Formats: sequence, C-alpha cells, structure tokens
Amino acid sequence: MCSIIGYYGKDSAAPIIVKGLKRMEYRGYDSVGVATESNNKIELKKGIGKVNEVNSKIQLDSLPGKIGIGHTRWATHGKVTEFNAHPHPSNSGKIAIVHNGIIENFEELKKQLEDEGYNFKSETDSEIIANLLQKHYEKTKNVKETILKTVSEIKGHYAFVAMFENGQLVAAKFHEPLIIGVGKDDFFLSSDVLGFIEFTDDAIYLENGNFVILEKNKFQILDFQGEHVKYGITKVSKEFGDVYKGDYAHFTLKEIHEQYETVLKAGEKTQEAIEKTANYIKHAKNIYITGSGTSYNSALIAKQIFSKYAKIKAEPIISSELQFSPNSIEENSIIIAISQSGESADVLDAVRIGKESNCKVIAIVNLMTSSLAREADVVIGMNCGPEIGVAATKSFTSQLVVLYKIVQKLTDNKVTINFEKFSESVLKILENPTKIKKIAKVLKDISDIYVLGRGINYPIAMEAALKLKELTYIHAEGIPGGELKHGPLALMDSNVFVIIINPNDSTYSDTLTSAREIKARGAKIIGVSDIESDVYDYWIEMPKIDQVLYPISEIIPIQFLSYYAALEKNTDPDYPRNLAKSVTVK
Ligand code: AGP
Ligand code: GLU
Repeated sequence: MCSIIGYYGKDSAAPIIVKGLKRMEYRGYDSVGVATESNNKIELKKGIGKVNEVNSKIQLDSLPGKIGIGHTRWATHGKVTEFNAHPHPSNSGKIAIVHNGIIENFEELKKQLEDEGYNFKSETDSEIIANLLQKHYEKTKNVKETILKTVSEIKGHYAFVAMFENGQLVAAKFHEPLIIGVGKDDFFLSSDVLGFIEFTDDAIYLENGNFVILEKNKFQILDFQGEHVKYGITKVSKEFGDVYKGDYAHFTLKEIHEQYETVLKAGEKTQEAIEKTANYIKHAKNIYITGSGTSYNSALIAKQIFSKYAKIKAEPIISSELQFSPNSIEENSIIIAISQSGESADVLDAVRIGKESNCKVIAIVNLMTSSLAREADVVIGMNCGPEIGVAATKSFTSQLVVLYKIVQKLTDNKVTINFEKFSESVLKILENPTKIKKIAKVLKDISDIYVLGRGINYPIAMEAALKLKELTYIHAEGIPGGELKHGPLALMDSNVFVIIINPNDSTYSDTLTSAREIKARGAKIIGVSDIESDVYDYWIEMPKIDQVLYPISEIIPIQFLSYYAALEKNTDPDYPRNLAKSVTVK
C-alpha cells in the first residue's frame, strides 16, 4: 500500500523521485526513503515522517546519480522506524529494493537466508527480496535469471523495484500496481501514473506475473517463465496530474468544494456503459454489489434505490467478507464492484471470486486505467478527477450519482432527476459553512458521537460516522434509528453527541421520536434536516430538494463538519494517521 518509484534517465534522479513520491504520498506516509546509483555505488537515505518533513531534514533530493528508486511506506510488517523504512539494501550493499505489498512466506525464507549467513537489519518482510536477489545474482551474474529465481520463491502480493550497483533497474509485479512511464530519454517505474505524469503521459500497465529490465535507452518485459511479452502503450489522461490544492488549505476541503461540479460530471463520459449495465441488471439472475469502506456504503444505498425505484433486488457484500461467505455468489450472476481507486485488494479479490462463478463484472471506478477497470466487463467512470484526501468525499457523491443514473435507465427514465438544480443546492450548502464551523468547535472535546438514520438515511449515517472517525479520531458509530431502544440507548448521557439524519421523507417522524428519546437522556442533538425542530440543540439546515436526492446532499454537511472538527483537533485532514488512500494489501 506504499508507493514505489524507479527512475532511469538523463537527469538527476533524486529530485524527480522525491517529486513523484510527494504526489503518491496518499498511498502511505509513515516513512520515506530514496536510493541512487552513482559511480557504481549505491547511496541511500531514509527517515520517518512525510516526504517534505524528511526531505527538509536529510535532503533526500541531494543524492547523486541519474538512476534511483524511492518509497513511501504504510507499514504492514514491523513498526514505523528508520530501519524498517525502504529502500532496503542487500547484505553486500550492492543491491537495494523498494517493495509494495506482503511477502507471505518471508519467515521461512528469512530463516533459510539466515542459515546461509545473511543478516537482517529490519523487521520487514521486504528485506528478504534484497538478500534473495543478492544470493541469486552472486551465483548467476545474470539479472534475468536472478529475477526468475527470486519470484519463483516468494509468495504473496507484491510489486518491487530493485537497483543493482551497476545501475541496472528491474521491477516485478504480482497483484500490486506497477506502471512503466516511457519518456523521451528516460523511464519510470511507479505505483501510480502520478509518479511520472509531469514528465510523460505514455504508460505501460504491467500484467501480473511480468517483470521489466531497464537498460540504457531500452527495456524488455518478460513473464515469470522468462518469455518476452507483448505490451501496449496507453496515453494517460493528463487531468490526473492535476493534484494541486490551489487556494485551499487542504485537498480534502478542495474536494468537498468540488462537489457542485462533480455531481454533474459523474458517469458523463461513460453513458453507454451505464446503459449496458442497466441491461445486464434487468436480465441477471442475481445482482451483487461489493466495495470497501465508503464504497461499501454506496453499495448499501444502491440496494435501497434499486429496490425502491426499479423493484430490483441486489445484495450488498463487504468485499473483504465475500471470501468468508461460502457459496454466496451464484453462477452467472452480475457483480457490481465500486471502488474509487480501483486498486483495493479486497475488492479485486471479491471480483476474482465472482469471475470464478462466471459472473459479469461491472466496475464503477474513478481511475479508468486501474486494475479493477482492467478486470471488468463494463466500466463506468465516476469522472470526478483525482481525489487525494484519504477520506473519500467527492468520490462518494459521484458514486451515488452514477447509481442514480443506473436507476434512471432501469426505470426507462421514469425516475426523473434534475441534476442541474441539485448542483445549485449543493453549492448553497458549500457556500455557508459558518454554522458548521461553530458546531465543529463544540465537538473538539467530545469522545463519542453517534449518527442516527433510518431507511436510506442509515447508510448515510454509517458514512457520516466513517468520515468523523477518519478525520477527527473521535469514536463515531452509525445506528439505524429503530435499533436505539434495542441497546445503544444505554450509552446516551450528557457527554454524548448524536447527529440525527432527518430529512422530510417517510422516516421523518419516527426519527424525530428517536431524537426525543435521546434528548430525554441528556445527550446533545445535531439535526441534519430541512425542517427545524426544538429537539435539535444544533440544526444543520439542508436545502429543500427533490426527495430522491436527499442521501447525496445529507453527507456534504457532515464531510464539512468532520473537516472543521479535524482542524479544531489539530489532526491532518488529508492524511489521517495509520491510513492510506489506496489499500492494496489484504
Ligand atoms: C473512505 O473515506 C476511506 N478512506 C476508505 O474507507 C475507502 O473508501 C476504502 O478504502 C475503499 O477505497 P476504494 O473506493 O478506493 O476501493
Ligand atoms: N510489507 C512492507 C513493509 O511493511 C511494505 C508495505 C507497503 O506496501 O507499504 O514495509
């Protein structure tokens, strides 16, 4: 889940690598390191913290040489320490590697290597790659043979880049992303096109089980059997290089603000895919919708709106749970996989299980060149531009718009939605955060927040709780309103805040009753509603809009609230602790 990068070219490698790492930092940000080759020697610097912090302390970008590798880490094996940070040199110091993923059999391999006299300085699984490469290279003196032997021994999900003392760069991919950027006089190896988009928009997406050897001005791509493979060069959308905050203090704030535009753009470029999807759904035996985190919350909304407006049953399944639900996927059904990044390992695994049961795969993704998009039969684009803030904001509302557009097709446009008008009401919410900022101040010292919603508003309550957790580190929980009296009411006292998602729909009066029950126990109530009530200690006014669209607009004030509460609590809203934007490990 980290970012890896390699550069081979005519310019100084380290500054280019540091720039690329900064852009890919969303993938993991607990530590960072760079290694370069200069005069047949490997130089290496690494440290704990974010790219800019570490770079200003130890000047990663001053390393000499025109060939190099870099890494930002999201620790899976071993604490966040300088020793555990990548790159990892081999024992001889003649090879250094950066790795993304998990080597499942690292303990066994480490033991073997230790018995052969190798020492290990880190607690990571990754370091074994460096020493295995050294072992095989010393025997074979041949890079191709070395890689083939190494990949035949390691098990797990990985992408790694290795740099040899003679300046040779190699990289292998197995279920973690790895892309080659092909410039005029230089080559890049990277987890994401963001690592090189400033320099070239020509990319080669490596397939699983492929590796690449870079030599002066040329490269060869081979498979794990050692055969050359055919490849194509893809033009990457430059738009995805647009990763600047502009006038905003944080990416998250910028991305929340962009929603009045992104709700108009969602699915726009993939109308045909939406139609095709509706057609598949109409004729499918079973429909499964899968995703993780925020994208799973979208799946829950999908279930509700497919059923309410199109009378079609669909089953949402948390991607990471799918493998533990034996026989849950019936043959020849369809599986709709929702994922902003299109790289979540859990989602990709769920899709693989679906494919084994001959399911058609429909992907709703933001990144059209992602692994999920490439696995799918039909791909619908969220089309909301790069989302850098780790907490999903605009991608969530875009996912919902796409799902509503599918519903429109399912009902032959009987469900009419005026997205233009909706965008205007989103703008209204965005233009006036003053009241929300005041409420955020009150949340600063709170340790528990509950979010209540019924029916279609329940998944929004779950998403609201997820945003509060991620951005503020306050314990937050989404609760279906009716369940209150079956347990959670025991938690209510004057130290607790409860957010009530209460639009003027069929859930309104029942939810208001729940709010009164809570208030009677002394908890403070924040009402998110288009109707004012004396039960709310704080009222976040929602615009009066078409009922169909309530769920999309309800989440926006809570995204704002979470963001401003994060500022009050001095947490970093763009990069919440312990998390990463693209969760490519299981
Ligand atoms: C959302 O705020 C989270 N960062 C997280 O739950 C995210 O939605 C999840 O990891 C799924 O990501 P994906 O949409 O890129 O697959
Ligand atoms: N497993 C490796 C580690 O813990 C790499 C993790 C990652 O992908 O960031 O260092």
